[in-house]
Amino acid sequence: MSELSVDHLLGIKYLKKEDIALIFQTADHFKEVINRPIKKVPSLRDITIANLFFENSTRTRISFELAEKRLSADVVNFSASSSSVTKGETLIDTVNNILSMKVDMVVMRHPNPGAGIFLSRHVNASIINAGDGAHEHPTQALLDCYSIREKLGDVEGKKVVIVGDILHSRVALSNIFALKLLGAQVKVCGPYTLIPKYIRSLGVEVEPNLKNALEWCDVANMLRVQHERMDISYFPSTREYVQLFGLNRQLLDSLNKKIVVMHPGPINRGVEITSDVADSDQAIILDQVQNGVAIRMAVIYLLASKIKQI
Ligand code: CP
Repeated sequence: MSELSVDHLLGIKYLKKEDIALIFQTADHFKEVINRPIKKVPSLRDITIANLFFENSTRTRISFELAEKRLSADVVNFSASSSSVTKGETLIDTVNNILSMKVDMVVMRHPNPGAGIFLSRHVNASIINAGDGAHEHPTQALLDCYSIREKLGDVEGKKVVIVGDILHSRVALSNIFALKLLGAQVKVCGPYTLIPKYIRSLGVEVEPNLKNALEWCDVANMLRVQHERMDISYFPSTREYVQLFGLNRQLLDSLNKKIVVMHPGPINRGVEITSDVADSDQAIILDQVQNGVAIRMAVIYLLASKIKQI
């Protein structure tokens, strides 16, 4: 396979296994590029990309911008809070105005699930979903799986537990799609109130006991409780959550093997994970962030190659 089967990256759900293999192979090349003294290639000098962030971000926004600049694309950044969206302009009007200034590709983070899919049907540009509400965060899942592959050699056959707020997590859904596509076994662990009822239909098992889940897995992906997406309480107190679902050094050391610990960030230290675990040699949290740039370079490069053919 030499090109992606899709014109947009809206979710892992729309990718084939071969697409992910091509993205990883391309990311391997870009990872080598960004470790050179001059971390830049001229590949996308003729492409302009708009980063539209309607929701806060540190890692994803900076990672996309660095990826675009390292491919030599022209980049414009848009933040909803300082734009005419605050005066009532619609999403389609906003994006079409930006596109009329000869923009080829849009990277968008939006609080509404499906916002990227909606946009891809109404505007003439390649769309990359940088997180749409509690729906999908495809580049996060790609960089997570790429980091597992880098650490453990392959994703196929690995046992991965995703711990925490599965219900409100776009990282969880995209990771489940990607991990299953690549042949991993997946369990989720968290309060029953934060596990969606449909989860088993995705081929995922539920393990309510964190110690059992950790004894089973090769990799634990610890998720943040997404208070900003909750309008009711899903568990009695943060203290109880920490006791039942928080990962600490004592628990990690009590296991009969050395597992890999992941976290997509931002971390709530002392809640889903303690500092001594987050900063330990078993955690690959900053490797995930570093790999995000190579993965995003690969996605942008492969989608831009399709634009150039038109
Ligand atoms: N992992 C992640 O999406 O982080 P940001 O919200 O900081 O982009």
